[in-house]
Amino acid sequence: MWDNLSNTKATSAFDWKEHLPVGSDQGVCAFLKERDSALLERKEKMEKLVIQGGNRLNGSIRVSGAKNSAVALIPATILAESPVTIGGIPTISDVRMLGGLLEDIGGIVSIRKDKMIVDPARMMDMPLPNGKVKKLRASYYLMGAMLGRFKQAVIGLPGGCHLGPRPIDQHMKGFEALGAQVTYEQGAISLRAEELKGARIYLDVVSVGATINIMLAAVRAKGQTVIENAAKEPEIIDVATLLTSMGAKIKGAGTDVIRIDGVDRLNGCYHSIIPDRIEAGTFMILAAAAGEKVTVENVIPQHLESVIAKLREMGVRIDSHDDSVTIYGKQDLKMVDIKTLVYPGFPTDLQQPFTSLLTKADGTGIVTDTIYSARFKHVDELRRMNATMKIEGSTAIISGSSSLQGAKVRASDLRAGAALIIAGLMAEGITELTGLEHVDRGYEDLENKLRGLGAILTRETLTKEEMEQLRSS
Ligand code: EPU
Repeated sequence: MWDNLSNTKATSAFDWKEHLPVGSDQGVCAFLKERDSALLERKEKMEKLVIQGGNRLNGSIRVSGAKNSAVALIPATILAESPVTIGGIPTISDVRMLGGLLEDIGGIVSIRKDKMIVDPARMMDMPLPNGKVKKLRASYYLMGAMLGRFKQAVIGLPGGCHLGPRPIDQHMKGFEALGAQVTYEQGAISLRAEELKGARIYLDVVSVGATINIMLAAVRAKGQTVIENAAKEPEIIDVATLLTSMGAKIKGAGTDVIRIDGVDRLNGCYHSIIPDRIEAGTFMILAAAAGEKVTVENVIPQHLESVIAKLREMGVRIDSHDDSVTIYGKQDLKMVDIKTLVYPGFPTDLQQPFTSLLTKADGTGIVTDTIYSARFKHVDELRRMNATMKIEGSTAIISGSSSLQGAKVRASDLRAGAALIIAGLMAEGITELTGLEHVDRGYEDLENKLRGLGAILTRETLTKEEMEQLRSS
């Protein structure tokens, strides 16, 4: 039944968390069944965001819990034998989907305000070859977590945003090094191990997903695992913190060498998720592009040093506080070049939103994505809005000082959606954005948050004609 929710927005007209009785132990699926018919009706509807551009934004906006942490923390609960509570969980469709997958394997999942409580005691090693696993990238974390707990797993190949090739060979290399047999069976990956044994694993590519997945499998392996050339993203530290609270022995998370001493058993605990640095960065870029004075709250400024540095290089004033940043928007901005790199370099996830901001800077800028060379599907859409830019390989060349004009555009992926919302708020006139299912995967309550800054935007159902136009385009 979770499939019914994948294309619906839960925050504007229907907020599942809002509707759960406080203190309710009701399973998420059971609760949602009551509203199944309403949701089914919504599923059939395709929506667009109508954005009235040109309004200067002011005020405060609060960042939610990190999506890319949440999608790893939820599968990590599989490894425990008693209930785990995750605080600060964002209401986004990827989270709902993963909660449903845990229920599919026998977990009891409930929501109390912004806390997700997972009782993994009765989970089983059920194969998950199809369905929801195919709809999100992070379903690959079920592989590491189920392998760690049950020593076997069958998981369909993951879906997610189309950003060019997204191999998972490093994940498999890690599982094999720990003693798992990896086979591919009709679009699914089957993992099986007599026993998992600690190993020394050198990642050929610095990968967030592979680092976390190997950690998940290794925490209950026999002996020591060392991950070399590990990714250093804050989300990795967040997952290691949860696992450590569960009883795991992990050293070095956040550096490029992580040491894990396997334990026999992990227990439930409480863990509070870190703020979403990509959502925070999106709001900071938006503030620089269309704001006057905007304070972004619930931020760890150290997680965003590369973005703050680039904004300052453009001439944007930023006051950084303990857990918030205030951005003063500016009309005349200096052009900068951007090159995405692994953390602590400039994040690929903010490359697309930043491109929108660069359209108003003075001069010519070069944006290179070294992580996902094809993450430029937003460029054609920005061109429709009067931006002047072209793609050469893994680089976008932007001629600045464009005045963006409202247009009908489509989000091809999550961060393209964020880029186009920023562009819509900068533009003159009305922008109509479709492809909202991508945005709903990763931004919690976005419209209401933006309205709080004075943005004028509404979510509307597409007419039959508009749906036909979209299908034939
Ligand atoms: N790579 C390989 N082999 C692997 C794994 C990765 O060649 O086995 C390559 C990828 O193709 C890519 C690079 O290594 O070129 C980095 O990929 P990584 O594994 O770090 O990415 P990921 O774990 O699949 C996460 C985030 C992405 C974010 C990237 C990079 C999640 C669920 N996703 O993906 O987030 O862009 O790290 O920081 O955590 C987003 O939030 O919009 C998003 C796409």
